[in-house]
Amino acid sequence: MGYGSRREVQALIRAGRVSLDGVPVRDSGADTEDRQVAVDFKPVILPGHTHIMLHKPAGLLTAARDREAPTVMDLLPPLCVKNGCMPVGRLDKDTTGILFLTDDGVLGHRLISPKRHVDKVYLAELEAPLPPDAAERFREGISLRDFTALPAVLEVLSPREARVTVWEGKYHQVKRMFAAVGCPVIRLHRESFGPLCLDPRLGEGEYRPLTDEEVRLVYQAAGMEEKT
Ligand code: URA
Repeated sequence: MGYGSRREVQALIRAGRVSLDGVPVRDSGADTEDRQVAVDFKPVILPGHTHIMLHKPAGLLTAARDREAPTVMDLLPPLCVKNGCMPVGRLDKDTTGILFLTDDGVLGHRLISPKRHVDKVYLAELEAPLPPDAAERFREGISLRDFTALPAVLEVLSPREARVTVWEGKYHQVKRMFAAVGCPVIRLHRESFGPLCLDPRLGEGEYRPLTDEEVRLVYQAAGMEEKT
């Protein structure tokens, strides 16, 4: 899995760096079936297709690689990167929240296709109070310089905080929609991407493989048969 030879892995186990379901094990014969194996509490990704939910922290680029700046790929285990796992869609450098990564390129491609209209839910903290007609304007489709956004659902949580559901993902779209109603975004956090909701147990920078049920749901959202 990219963690070294058998002997090196046994040394990791002896050093207490390998855990099963969060509990360090020192027995290299321990039963791992249906249990989450982790090294230094980072989940080990098993072979087959790799589908990952990451809680993206602020400060990292959503890109497979970048010559200068750190990317979300720096958080993942080496084998995952080597096997071609890629972020599906993009969150801005300062945006936090759920990011889905997969090595199934067709799946990723279909989920971000404008034809699919996969829903994404964001929490936004705003610089100025929302105008009274904000929800209506989001519902009607905000007109931006180069396109008119599809109708979006705005739930006002407080004068300067809102939850928004959008069905497309153009560059800086959510920030531009709020700016268009006079409320620049201070902080943006994605709570869900299609059928995937950010696991509250994941701290910023942490990730886990999707559960079997989540895998089924993402393939369903992409209109595909699941491949194993
Ligand atoms: N819309 C934005 O403006 N930024 C993001 O990171 C995601 C959606």
